[in-house]
Amino acid sequence: MASKNLSIDVDNVVMKFGHFTALDGVSLKASYGKVTGLLGPNGAGKTTLIKVMTTLLKPSQGQVVVDGINVLLHDKEARKHIGLAGQFAAVDEFLTGRETLVMVARLYGMPKKQAEEKASELLDKLGLSDAADRQTKTYSGGMRRRLDLGASLVATPKVLFLDEPTTGLDPRTRLQLWDIIRDLVRQGVTILLTTQYLEEADALCDYIYVIDKGKMIIEGTSEDLKKSLGQDIIELKVADSNLDKAHKMLKKLAGDDAVVDDLTRRIRIHTESGSEDLLKVANELKKANIKAEELSLHRPTLDDVFLAVTGNHAEDTDK
Ligand SMILES: Nc1ncnc2c1ncn2[C@@H]1O[C@H](COP(=O)(O)OP(=O)(O)O)[C@@H](O)[C@H]1O
Ligand SMILES: [Mg+2]
Repeated sequence: MASKNLSIDVDNVVMKFGHFTALDGVSLKASYGKVTGLLGPNGAGKTTLIKVMTTLLKPSQGQVVVDGINVLLHDKEARKHIGLAGQFAAVDEFLTGRETLVMVARLYGMPKKQAEEKASELLDKLGLSDAADRQTKTYSGGMRRRLDLGASLVATPKVLFLDEPTTGLDPRTRLQLWDIIRDLVRQGVTILLTTQYLEEADALCDYIYVIDKGKMIIEGTSEDLKKSLGQDIIELKVADSNLDKAHKMLKKLAGDDAVVDDLTRRIRIHTESGSEDLLKVANELKKANIKAEELSLHRPTLDDVFLAVTGNHAEDTDK
């Protein structure tokens, strides 16, 4: 049963495309006023789930309630409560930024004057006032993304869905978008966002779901997820030619816990004693005459969580 206190309640959703199962019994709950993150590599099923939650796809099975409305039964009603910003700004590039937002507002049935006011307000909020009267074909990727976000805010949604809002943006523009998202939360908007970036989930999300191959594999706050791994990690990076030798050496110390990642040339083990084990590893390396490019002791990060549950580094899985 859907709870009244949840802004989003997805229960056991299955989405099949022909014989392919893109979502395999997925559940997700999001609270009002929070940022809930859906984190997963390319092809995990994030966009598919966003489409199901925003009425664009009918699932093969399952229940979806957004802002108290059964999305599958009352899609038109649900759309009034939902804002959706896509991964790519869908704007006519011959229109100016201002014209784009006025057009969207008119589509929502706003009178001309109100639509113009709304457009100005949003352009200001998104830092696009200076570029407002230029055709959007002259906009940078970051500006397009902000305009796209603006379009999703025209109808002042209670629940806003952002599908990879910062993918492909340069770091500075990404930080600007994070600020805008935090601002929206302060104003009471509930946000569900998908991302491939762990640091983004870490920085923005109150609660995180990790999805892989159409299944939810772990959920919790960023702290919960890191704590779930418990022990600290010792990580070592060596030259290709030394990788096998170093792996064997660490296996002697840590057994099967010594995991090697051929791609990044890193080997890692968990540790209870921290610095004592670090010294042991350093000594063994010296004895074996292996030079480490990096040797570190660190608390588990979200990437470590990801590695532990999927067997991949989140950001290596880009196709
Ligand atoms: N309309 C479709 N028809 C067939 N397969 C699809 C369709 N949409 C998505 N898929 C497949 O479903 C899986 C999940 O896709 P998607 O939800 O876009 O992943 P993500 O957004 O996490 O990258 C992928 O394997 C993708 O190829
Ligand atoms: Mg996607």
